[in-house]
Amino acid sequence: MYIWMLGLNHRTAPVALRERLAWPPEILQQWLADLADLLPERAILSTCNRFELYAVSTDPHLASQAFRRLLKAAPEVDWAEVEPALYRRIGLDAARHLFRVAAGLDSMILGEPEILGQVAGAYDLARQARAVGPYLSHMFQEALRMGKQARETTDIGRAPASVGSAAVHLLRQEVPDLAQRRALVVGAGAMARTAARYLRDLGLRDLAVVNRTLARAQALADEVVARVFPWQDLVAALAWADVAVVAVAAPQPVITPEVVRAALAQRPGPRHLVDIGVPRNIATEVATLPQVRLYDIDALQGIVDEGLARRQRAVPQVEALVHRAVQDFNAWLQSRRVAPTLAALRQQAEDLRQQVLRRTLRRYTDRTVDPEVLDEVTRILVEKWLQIPARNLHRLAREGRADPYDAVLRRLFELEQESR
Ligand SMILES: NC(=O)c1ccc[n+]([C@@H]2O[C@H](COP(=O)([O-])OP(=O)(O)OC[C@H]3O[C@@H](n4cnc5c(N)ncnc54)[C@H](OP(=O)(O)O)[C@@H]3O)[C@@H](O)[C@H]2O)c1
Repeated sequence: MYIWMLGLNHRTAPVALRERLAWPPEILQQWLADLADLLPERAILSTCNRFELYAVSTDPHLASQAFRRLLKAAPEVDWAEVEPALYRRIGLDAARHLFRVAAGLDSMILGEPEILGQVAGAYDLARQARAVGPYLSHMFQEALRMGKQARETTDIGRAPASVGSAAVHLLRQEVPDLAQRRALVVGAGAMARTAARYLRDLGLRDLAVVNRTLARAQALADEVVARVFPWQDLVAALAWADVAVVAVAAPQPVITPEVVRAALAQRPGPRHLVDIGVPRNIATEVATLPQVRLYDIDALQGIVDEGLARRQRAVPQVEALVHRAVQDFNAWLQSRRVAPTLAALRQQAEDLRQQVLRRTLRRYTDRTVDPEVLDEVTRILVEKWLQIPARNLHRLAREGRADPYDAVLRRLFELEQESR
């Protein structure tokens, strides 16, 4: 059996091609079902930056055939256009590729968080389609485990790399007890959403959203568990808040000195306002008001640059985690190679045990021997006796040295030859 992957990503294919490969999950699920006769195990990882088919098959050359079959169902995409963009990996290289993808090493923005959820989604979809077996299941689970570990133990995902996260990072630097403060997010678009998520992740006591369209404010508030202010209550929202991240695509500032003055009149106190907008969302004169600290997007650039540099510095550490995960996966693959021999050995021992038990019990019909005790004693004996060779065979397998021992065991014990 071979594990392999075939796919394309943002480095090998332009968005004009990738966008035509962005099919909804129902279609992907159908395709996973359609490939069942060709590939015993298969999964598709489809994101805006990549389209990759992972599979297990007896022949790795089936990869192109399988991919072509997928594309036949999509007449808007031509094989001649796709083929030059494809890269393939076989065996441990396929596993290494998936682990690097899950860790964010292969992403457009190094360490971006979304990819881990997308890998989990691809695995879930394949499981729902009953398309994965032991090999891909183990490989995807290992990818998810190490992707999480990379983000928890290194700077690959922790250091801010987007303007939205940098805004929150800046607030954390400037406001010592930020978690105890009330935070307002102005806007409900992409940037506002990122900032709101980061604020929520910091465990802020009180979070609120205000947006021109109330329904979008409500949707974001539901997602991050926040309260909502209607757009006409912008002053009240700023009066309520201690800190605010403002990110709307308005041509003029939406927060004027008058708005902030009115908010301070309702509730005086320090205000930290971060303006992500380009053009700016907060009028520059607001910075001159007492108790107000105003930061614009230029103040965030340094944080983003430093965050990206920190992520870059974490790469060797993450590569080491990937390397270890590949080794573990290899050890697992190797130990699977001896599984049929050990299963046959156990079965042989069990058959013998049953035979001896039956014969013995037939001889002691006067029940001077307790059948339950005999059953337990023989079972424990067989289990214990097999423990040491099993452990050693697994160890040898992990070291890639099990094959001759496996063959000898089969020969000596006359274990039937099973396909492996
Ligand atoms: N995306 C980025 O990578 C990025 C990076 C740096 C800076 N920025 C800046 O961040 C700001 C938001 O960008 P985005 O990508 O989050 O935009 P987006 O996803 O398109 O969302 C736009 C947001 O702006 C609001 N909006 C648009 N016109 C408005 C107006 N006239 N008055 C009040 N609200 C208005 C929208 O409210 P409705 O829901 O009512 O439509 C929505 O909340 C922009 O100024 C952008 O230049 C973005």
